[in-house]
Amino acid sequence: MLSNLGYYYNVSKLLTEITNLSAVFDSSLRGHNLRVSLISLALATKLSFSREFLLNVLVASLFHDIGILFFKEKEQISLLKEENYRDKAIHLHAIIGYKLLSRSPFFKEPAKIIRDHHRTYAEFISSPKKYSFPSQIIFLADRIDVWITNKLSRGHSLLDVLSSLKAKLERGRGTLFNPKLLDILANFYFDREAFWFNVYTEEDYVKETVLEWLDRLDFTMSIEELLKTVNLFGFIIDFKSPFTATHSSGVAQTATHLASYFHFSQEELRKMKIAGFLHDIGKILIPVEILEKPARLNDDEFFLMKSHVYHTYRILKRFINDEDIVKWASYHHEKLNGKGYPFKLKANQIPLGARIMAVADMFTALTEERPYKRAMTSSEALRIVIQSSEKGELDKQVVSVLARNLSTIDKSRKVAQERASELYRELERVVKNFDLK
Ligand SMILES: [Fe+2]
Ligand SMILES: [Fe+2]
Ligand SMILES: [Fe+2]
Repeated sequence: MLSNLGYYYNVSKLLTEITNLSAVFDSSLRGHNLRVSLISLALATKLSFSREFLLNVLVASLFHDIGILFFKEKEQISLLKEENYRDKAIHLHAIIGYKLLSRSPFFKEPAKIIRDHHRTYAEFISSPKKYSFPSQIIFLADRIDVWITNKLSRGHSLLDVLSSLKAKLERGRGTLFNPKLLDILANFYFDREAFWFNVYTEEDYVKETVLEWLDRLDFTMSIEELLKTVNLFGFIIDFKSPFTATHSSGVAQTATHLASYFHFSQEELRKMKIAGFLHDIGKILIPVEILEKPARLNDDEFFLMKSHVYHTYRILKRFINDEDIVKWASYHHEKLNGKGYPFKLKANQIPLGARIMAVADMFTALTEERPYKRAMTSSEALRIVIQSSEKGELDKQVVSVLARNLSTIDKSRKVAQERASELYRELERVVKNFDLK
């Protein structure tokens, strides 16, 4: 039977997990993307039932703030929570989100919506060809959620907040907000308590409902689309720090290349690529000061750093039903002599795929620059990898395959990393030149 990789993944869950990760910088953004998705869908379904329209609105809502993962500065993130939609700077995260997602054909339409999600109604009607219409929906839903959650966090009751919401939004009628959308709110939602209870009472319920919608809209991806999407998420993981900006791309390529010498099937090679792109997904939860510390980590910091693989394991488990991918990705710091982390596995518990990943990860990391070390050449890196295998840490067979094919493997790693680095530099340019535009 032809196996179907799609079976292994719950793509809907993948999307909701990734979108939740973008709240890690600021816990007050927790659940924001999901709540905005529910409010946007409520508005959108009163305009059209076209599957494509609803799907674009939903996917754009889910990822509307994904661009903030590119920023370390608190100021950029706090921008999202204030009423400064007249401030030019607020568009920056929207443009970064657009640049990231528009790389995948699957996200092309949602990306345009994301680009414009802080454009006011006045801007939209002055150049309706320039801006996408559905972004009006997300703009309104976003402002509603930001306003409500700010008030709730300051101790106001939901009833108080809702009673002033209408007047608050009406003040922006025709200038900030699309009048038609405000009419929809007035006609269908302002007075319906259940709607607001749904969005603001239970986080799990919001997530479940979004997942149901994704299923109802028959949200599926082909394997190629899935690989591209995972690749994109690999970029987002890496872009947290310029030092790791191309790391996952390099590891995915090196691991897949190594695996091909071990007669992995086509399907297993795809799984390896996915595992490689996602092996450090847990790093999203590690503070950037630790990732970029220019000196040796102290015991507490190293302990925290070790948790990134544990988080990778937990996160992947939630949307991947395939043991291989989860293990290959999450065991990349385990050592054959039992001295790795975080599961302290013994050699017989570490599958070949994970041994390959460990070699690919170490080799790639050595060839990259870090705040505390320069980049090594491939032969210098190989020497260290060999030493590690002699200490009983890395698999000798995998290391000897690397040694025998060093220049081919290294060349393909460089090509893959160059592609990632082009995108990273483009985003950096966008950020740097932003005020000039
Ligand atoms: Fe935003
Ligand atoms: Fe937002
Ligand atoms: Fe790692």
